[in-house]
Amino acid sequence: MTLIVGLTGGIATGKSTVTQMFKSVDIPVVETDKIARDMLRKGTEGYEEVVTAFSSSILLTNNDINRKKLAMIVFSNPQRRKKLNDIVHPRVKSIIKTEIQTHKELGTKILVLDVPLLFETDFIDLVDKTMVVYTTFKKQKERLMERERIDKDYAELKISAQMPLNRKVDLADYVIDNSLSILETRKEFNKILEKLEVL
Ligand SMILES: Nc1ncnc2c1ncn2[C@@H]1O[C@H](COP(=O)(O)OP(=O)(O)OP(=O)(O)O)[C@@H](O)[C@H]1O
Ligand SMILES: [Mg+2]
Repeated sequence: MTLIVGLTGGIATGKSTVTQMFKSVDIPVVETDKIARDMLRKGTEGYEEVVTAFSSSILLTNNDINRKKLAMIVFSNPQRRKKLNDIVHPRVKSIIKTEIQTHKELGTKILVLDVPLLFETDFIDLVDKTMVVYTTFKKQKERLMERERIDKDYAELKISAQMPLNRKVDLADYVIDNSLSILETRKEFNKILEKLEVL
């Protein structure tokens, strides 16, 4: 039996940080963001569909999709967000399902899916347990501002556009607190890992 663990959280709360921790103990992680990025590369069907739907104005001079521009467009426009999701979502889901199947056949004990919108989408149906990476609003904002070089107002806007982190915490089977140092998070991680390993 392969235990499928859905890893989620809010923007910049530390999903990728925890993903690295799983990988460091040889637990495979399927990263949905990465899959979504790959399927928008030049030459793919996804790329063609997105360019058709959003016009060549979303392209960089080398014809790669300008992700920042695309993100800005869909962030401020729900209809266009839906349009992009309708192209990306089914493809990503089908790739994840194939990955799950492969790991089941291989007899992988624990498989992690890093899914930013786990509770907001039907990806929740794919997992057995859920894990939320938590951090305080203050830390979340600071880390987001630093990483994306954006101001406080834009960071707050990005955070408030998401399902509240506390709601995700309430829905989670496991919560990993990433508000302190990476070392502290690692300790929390080890405790949760012990629990997962005996399931
Ligand atoms: N415990 C920590 N202490 C200090 N900085 C941290 C800590 N955890 C994460 N960070 C930093 O905060 C930022 C966000 O972390 P990370 O990329 O892991 O979050 P994420 O949830 O994967 O973000 P995204 O929503 O963009 O996928 C990164 O720049 C990371 O280096
Ligand atoms: Mg991430």
